[in-house]
Amino acid sequence: MQFREIKIGRHTLKYPIIQGGMGVGISWSQLAGAVSLAGALGVISAIGTGYYHSRAFVAKQQFGRPAEAEQFYNRKAVFEIFKDARKICGDKPLGANILYAINDYPRVFRDCCEAGADIIITGAGLPMNMPEYAADFPNVALVPIVSSPKALRLIAKRWEQRYKRIPDAIVLEGPLSGGHQGFTYEQCLDESYRLENLIKPVVLEAKSISDNIPVFAAGGIWTRDDIVRFMELGASGAQIGTRFIGTYECDVPQTFKDLLIGCKEGDIELLHSPVGYPARGIRTNLVNLIDKRQGPIVRCVSNCVIPCKRGVKAKSVGYCIADRLGDAAEGNLETGLFFSGSNGYRIDRLISVNDLIKKLVYGEDS
Ligand SMILES: Cc1cc2nc3c(=O)[nH]c(=O)nc-3n(C[C@H](O)[C@H](O)[C@H](O)COP(=O)(O)O)c2cc1C
Repeated sequence: MQFREIKIGRHTLKYPIIQGGMGVGISWSQLAGAVSLAGALGVISAIGTGYYHSRAFVAKQQFGRPAEAEQFYNRKAVFEIFKDARKICGDKPLGANILYAINDYPRVFRDCCEAGADIIITGAGLPMNMPEYAADFPNVALVPIVSSPKALRLIAKRWEQRYKRIPDAIVLEGPLSGGHQGFTYEQCLDESYRLENLIKPVVLEAKSISDNIPVFAAGGIWTRDDIVRFMELGASGAQIGTRFIGTYECDVPQTFKDLLIGCKEGDIELLHSPVGYPARGIRTNLVNLIDKRQGPIVRCVSNCVIPCKRGVKAKSVGYCIADRLGDAAEGNLETGLFFSGSNGYRIDRLISVNDLIKKLVYGEDS
């Protein structure tokens, strides 16, 4: 099977591959810029942008953290990240990933569009009002992340009725993915929720809405053969996250990359999260301490996500997600929380983004 170029809204990708947005600080200018330059879609994470360049753009800090959502989702830093990524990829399509569950979603959406995002990808909740925020940006393509045909149906119905708009593409994320899941713990382990079993119903649902909604499969996809397998089941392409952490260009400090290189299959687990969904990550000493209620102090400084209710959920789960992911972005092995997809242990050395894209497009030996 030969990979062909693919359109998402008014934008054309050379290869049908999306690099999944990864926050905090994992897919920023260097990774997303390099991926877009190589012909796939680089996606900048809009999460925790206050941590960009060691918090250089943060006007107000408390306990060494960006204070409030306004600083955590930092407008100045978003512009800087896009400017730096554009130095690498020029005017090739470049995306932004914004979680629907964050505080300040409408403002962050606007910041990303004004900073130059061509495509916005949104998961963690059903983005029912996404087109409303895009009204001033007709060139920006809208891509919801779903985990069931029902979720797609609800989103599309609302968008058509209210905004006369349909999704420009869909990401279908299965339960092997890194970070937050769109499933309960039980569903993550249940055969019927495997990506292989979800893809056909979601593709059918997309087709019933329009012939022009490409579906990108995500979660546990590692090789060209994996991509082909899902394309044979009806996907138009794939979104891949974890494997991109194993590149020289990935924005995280070397400690994060080394942790992945050194980790074993059994070290990657589903963890509890204040966001309210299970999250897949690496069991480090921090996770052991959190389990024993001996983790770092929990206090809400960055007011990051709505479901946490200003730290109420964080206190019950035993950690603050903004602080722990912020520490991972700064390379702190003791207090950082490190997300990974279930295949993360397969990274054994770093390669360039260009080589990774070649492997994904032409096979492992290329
Ligand atoms: C470290 C890490 C952080 C992530 N952060 C986000 C995020 O902020 N927003 C989001 O929509 N998905 C996030 N994801 C999910 C990825 O975008 C991607 O869809 C998923 O990882 C695909 O599965 P894979 O890692 O097995 O390829 C994250 C994944 C990882 C591994």
